[in-house]
Amino acid sequence: MKRILVTGGFGFIGTHLVEELLLNPINHVTVVDDLSTSPVDPDAFITGIGWTHSEYLSRLDAVITTVKKYFRQYTLPHFDEIYHLASVVGPVMLIERGGKILKNMVGDTYDILEYCLQHGTRLLDFSTGEVYGGLNSNGMCVEEGSMIVPPKASARLEYAVGKLACEIALKNTCNLTDLHATIVRPFNATGPRQQPGGGFVLPRFLNQAIAGEPLTVYWEGKGVRTFTHVKDIASGVVLMMERGHRGYAYNIGNPCNKCTVLELAHKVLEISGSKSEIIFVDPRTLWGPLFEECADKYPDVDRAIVDLNWHPYRTLDTIIADGLAYVQARRKD
Ligand SMILES: NC(=O)c1ccc[n+]([C@@H]2O[C@H](COP(=O)([O-])OP(=O)(O)OC[C@H]3O[C@@H](n4cnc5c(N)ncnc54)[C@H](O)[C@@H]3O)[C@@H](O)[C@H]2O)c1
Repeated sequence: MKRILVTGGFGFIGTHLVEELLLNPINHVTVVDDLSTSPVDPDAFITGIGWTHSEYLSRLDAVITTVKKYFRQYTLPHFDEIYHLASVVGPVMLIERGGKILKNMVGDTYDILEYCLQHGTRLLDFSTGEVYGGLNSNGMCVEEGSMIVPPKASARLEYAVGKLACEIALKNTCNLTDLHATIVRPFNATGPRQQPGGGFVLPRFLNQAIAGEPLTVYWEGKGVRTFTHVKDIASGVVLMMERGHRGYAYNIGNPCNKCTVLELAHKVLEISGSKSEIIFVDPRTLWGPLFEECADKYPDVDRAIVDLNWHPYRTLDTIIADGLAYVQARRKD
């Protein structure tokens, strides 16, 4: 039996990762989540996953609390592996947490790092493609490239710098100790269970299309994104835990799905059959002057393909269709 901890395991990516991990019958998964931004009801998630209740429950347990309290106040079992996902995320969510993002992120990562050092636990830390910053010339992000910090303060930058600080602390600890940590930089994870509340674009478009409301494209919708199916991300990080080189960061994203936000809006209308119109808005009129969109970005994923033998194969059409099915099912509930 392999004991695995997933922090943020009831989140959007976390639930898909837990499902992926439980496909392997040797895995026992513990989730730690404070449910602050979870898209699921934990009980419904456990029973609704398609496993028989007892079979599932025997290999999944959950503690509803913060990472900080869990690592400081609980008596912890031995974990063989920890996937650390718990974090604030999303352009709208970040605005209201500005000034507190970095402290929580770094504090949680250090608590987990200490545990892993003491117990010989392998760690997979969730970073972000945002660490590449905002000034790359054409948006392409390569792991060997420079990290570029734009000359302005924002909640988005605090998030990116916090994630990068955690990455560097983990890499340095790997250099000086036996710690086995790998880092994933996901690019535009999306698909079923992602909520529009955080400011994520695909769930917003899908909900608007189904409701017959206008699709709100921010500014002119020229921003380049690389939408990646959440299930491709989940399978990638499981391979990364097994095969990733310690101290390495890996981009995980699907460059074949590169498109502008306006192109995404048109695809959503095409696939959903919605007659909604597309309107262009200044998001600062919706979310206030601190709202900031990310820079153009798309990943080079050669390192993940070569080291992990990972291949993202779900297309943009599949992502939209799966997201649409989820939103439609939720509206019927
Ligand atoms: N969604 C993306 O496109 C994307 C892109 C790059 C990186 N990431 C990273 O992936 C990870 C997961 O993101 P997600 O999209 O699934 O977000 P999410 O908000 O759906 O999931 C985060 C989960 O962690 C929980 N949580 C948050 N803070 C916590 C804390 N202090 N203690 C315990 N639980 C806590 C929330 O309740 C939630 O269930 C994050 O680390 C995020 O930075 C996501």
